[in-house]
Amino acid sequence: MKKLSNLFDKNRAWAQKVAQQNPHMLAQQVAQQNPEYLWIGCSDSRVSADQIIDVKPGDVFVHRNVSNLVIHTDMNCLSVLEYAVHSLNVKHILVVGHYGCGGVKAAIDGVSHGFIDNWLCHIRDIKQKHWRLLANCEDQATELDLLCEINALEQAYNVCNTTIVRKAWAIGQDLCVHAWVYNMRTGLLQDLGFTIDSPEAVEEHLENAIQKLANR
Ligand code: CO
Repeated sequence: MKKLSNLFDKNRAWAQKVAQQNPHMLAQQVAQQNPEYLWIGCSDSRVSADQIIDVKPGDVFVHRNVSNLVIHTDMNCLSVLEYAVHSLNVKHILVVGHYGCGGVKAAIDGVSHGFIDNWLCHIRDIKQKHWRLLANCEDQATELDLLCEINALEQAYNVCNTTIVRKAWAIGQDLCVHAWVYNMRTGLLQDLGFTIDSPEAVEEHLENAIQKLANR
């Protein structure tokens, strides 16, 4: 059986480097984590939270799934959200989509992909909801990019509607929800203009952000 010794080699080298460059870092972390951010992103191996925002261990709490979906009945995502908001007291929730998302592409290519189609149905619902806007796209690549953006916005909107975030706002907790998209070609993040720190006019903010995409 292959033991993946190459990964253990890399791990030892990394631990040694950390011990040399920042001898107290690991010891400090053992006591507790105190992340300011919760990152909800795609499982895609090219979209790693820690690398993209260049933070050290302990800075960002992470939940990732195929196409960064926030489904109201997903106990995994909701448990992460609950812990991040009410135990870790994160200040920011970053919902980060990415261009060229394979899950988004698979949701709209009209081909069966097996079991994952059940998960991707949520993206097809979003496509259906915004079909007029998507129909204006000049080609498939543009449509895919736009749907990746809209998906990030809709998932951030879902975060805002969870009992967890509503409760945090109700008790006056400092908590802001953001929708971003990541461009793998440039390595750059883009703010999608949905930055919400209270339950007021969340629907209107979503509509405005989507309208902004339509008007560019
Ligand atoms: Co993806």
